Amino acid sequence: MHKHDDPALKARVRAHWDREPCGTRGLDEPDPRARQAQAEAERYAVDEHIPGFARFSESRGLDVLEIGVGAGTDFVQWLRHGARATGVDLSPNSLAEARARVAAEGHAEAPLTVADAEHLPFAAASFDLVYSYGVLHHSPDTAAAIAEVLRVLRPGGEARVMIYHVPSWTGLLLWAVHGAARLRPWLTPRRAIYEHLESPGTKAYTVAEAHALMRGFVDVRVETALLAGDLLAMRPSERYQGRVHRLLWAIYPRGLIRRFGARLGLGLLITANKPI
Ligand SMILES: C[S@@+](CC[C@H](N)C(=O)[O-])C[C@H]1O[C@@H](n2cnc3c(N)ncnc32)[C@H](O)[C@@H]1O
Repeated sequence: MHKHDDPALKARVRAHWDREPCGTRGLDEPDPRARQAQAEAERYAVDEHIPGFARFSESRGLDVLEIGVGAGTDFVQWLRHGARATGVDLSPNSLAEARARVAAEGHAEAPLTVADAEHLPFAAASFDLVYSYGVLHHSPDTAAAIAEVLRVLRPGGEARVMIYHVPSWTGLLLWAVHGAARLRPWLTPRRAIYEHLESPGTKAYTVAEAHALMRGFVDVRVETALLAGDLLAMRPSERYQGRVHRLLWAIYPRGLIRRFGARLGLGLLITANKPI
């Protein structure tokens, strides 16, 4: 799959997130402060591991870079907890939503800029913490983006990165819907994620591959976590509104997966440090 910079694919990724900024589906409040409240209530109820992974509450006084802020739900948390937070995203429409929410919080000065994770516009060793949740697997050259995380971190600084995992429930679901049910059994879960999960060209990694990606770091820890997609706990997009999909939503064994299935969670929660 894509290992090098791919401007055409990146333009399609940007267009995808410009059409529907991440995490805004179904938000109906006109006021940005109310939208933030609605988004965070839903987000941290479903993906309840996020606060423990991000550790927003320990960020006071730190220089934090968030890559791929999307609609800004997590970015607001850094500001609330007193971090000096900078945010970037490839998608101008996502940033417009993030900026509105950040301004409504009283932090209109917080730097939020359009930038590409593979070419960050920051000097080396600028940040204590780089956080990126569900982003770098969407960039055509994920390894280049991870190299940028390492470059902009200060020695001893920490990266907290979530990228997608295979084997995972979401991968199996996408394989079942787009592969097995359409008599395309050769479509692997990895390829189903690439073709059908969010923006085009989404990648997913095994735990061993995640360790390999983080080769330049020390103290690399990788855990798996169930995400909304593994539990079919998100609002289905337009392409999953048919009768069969509604039936799947209704009979899906969420309780069992929640109890026994975390090892096949879609989320790879990676924590790692830049060598001193
Ligand atoms: C699944 S959303 C996640 C947003 C947010 N972190 C969250 O958890 O809600 C992916 C985001 O990554 C951004 N993105 C994708 N490729 C990127 C790149 N190369 N550089 C910066 N942002 C990128 C997209 O524009 C989108 O906002």
